[in-house]
Amino acid sequence: MENWILKFEDVSISYKTKRGYLQAVSNASFEVGQGQSVALIGESGCGKTTIATSVVGILPLAARIDGGHVLYRKGDGSIADMYSLSRKERRILLWKDIVMMFQASQSSFNPVRRIYTQFLDTVKAHESGKSDREILERSRELLEMVMLDPDKVLYSYPHELSGGMKQRTLLALTMILNPRILILDEPTTALDLITQEKILRLLNDMRRRFNFSLIFITHDLSIVSELADKVVTMYAGEVVETAPVRAFFTHPLHPYSDGLLKAIPRLTTSSDNLFSIPGNTPDLIDRPSGCLFHPRCAYEDEKCSRCRPCTTYLEDRSFSCFHPAGGDE
Ligand SMILES: Nc1ncnc2c1ncn2[C@@H]1O[C@H](COP(=O)(O)OP(=O)(O)OP(=O)(O)O)[C@@H](O)[C@H]1O
Ligand SMILES: [Mg+2]
Repeated sequence: MENWILKFEDVSISYKTKRGYLQAVSNASFEVGQGQSVALIGESGCGKTTIATSVVGILPLAARIDGGHVLYRKGDGSIADMYSLSRKERRILLWKDIVMMFQASQSSFNPVRRIYTQFLDTVKAHESGKSDREILERSRELLEMVMLDPDKVLYSYPHELSGGMKQRTLLALTMILNPRILILDEPTTALDLITQEKILRLLNDMRRRFNFSLIFITHDLSIVSELADKVVTMYAGEVVETAPVRAFFTHPLHPYSDGLLKAIPRLTTSSDNLFSIPGNTPDLIDRPSGCLFHPRCAYEDEKCSRCRPCTTYLEDRSFSCFHPAGGDE
């Protein structure tokens, strides 16, 4: 039985640039299950933010969706294609069903309004018939859940809160309409380690409590191991591997996933021995032939430089490589 809530099917997105079209996402497919937490990983520039923002319809003007669908299974079981919704239909789904929190989104608060007005406005923009008292009551519960003092936070201006407090307040705010999917783009990047740890624990608690699905983007694989059920590895705009979190860490199939894992700094490794994947990500305007990863891959052969590998689907994972785990397909 299928239990996906969000399904990316063959998504391709490009940006118009002075040099020509830059292929930021190409033929990307993966699913997010109901209540599942999916990590999107890959080096800078591989298309993570682009594919995530396409869901909520806020791509930059230079972007063009060249093909594919993002299917969303609504609460009533009907299916919406996020790419073909009207502005109004999308507005109805955003916040109530799907919310996205951005890289450095602490600045998304209005600086000249106290926090409580931002809770009131968010609810009133999407739900009618709730009194201020009811909304504030719920806001207090959520702020307590993220371990903040509601009396203090609600009547503060955003600049009066620390970075970690703002992030937690934003988390409470995103939960106020009880969304079914939360998308987080590097939610903890700007925070110190202890605060990051706290936010992660809160996210896990909240998932358990509200059972929403989570898509999160990160460069930190320790966050992946704590928060993800499933890992989607992107390289140069393509999804090169999807795997359950344990399988990803214990036996990655794509040499790129393997490289990312080997590049994690360990306490036991001196900085001289630190591994890094050789070479750079390719030019997405003038992409190499064959497998996009082959110029950097230890297992590449003649076929890899000539043919683009298709995706192989196994029971609970997929990969696009002629030499998964260094062997032969
Ligand atoms: N507005 C834009 N105009 C032109 N190119 C863009 C634009 N935004 C992103 N790109 C390009 O699209 C590609 C994918 O970018 P994207 O921001 O989605 O990557 P990312 O995986 O989120 O990277 P990071 O980890 O650095 O956030 C990159 O090559 C980037 O340079
Ligand atoms: Mg990004």
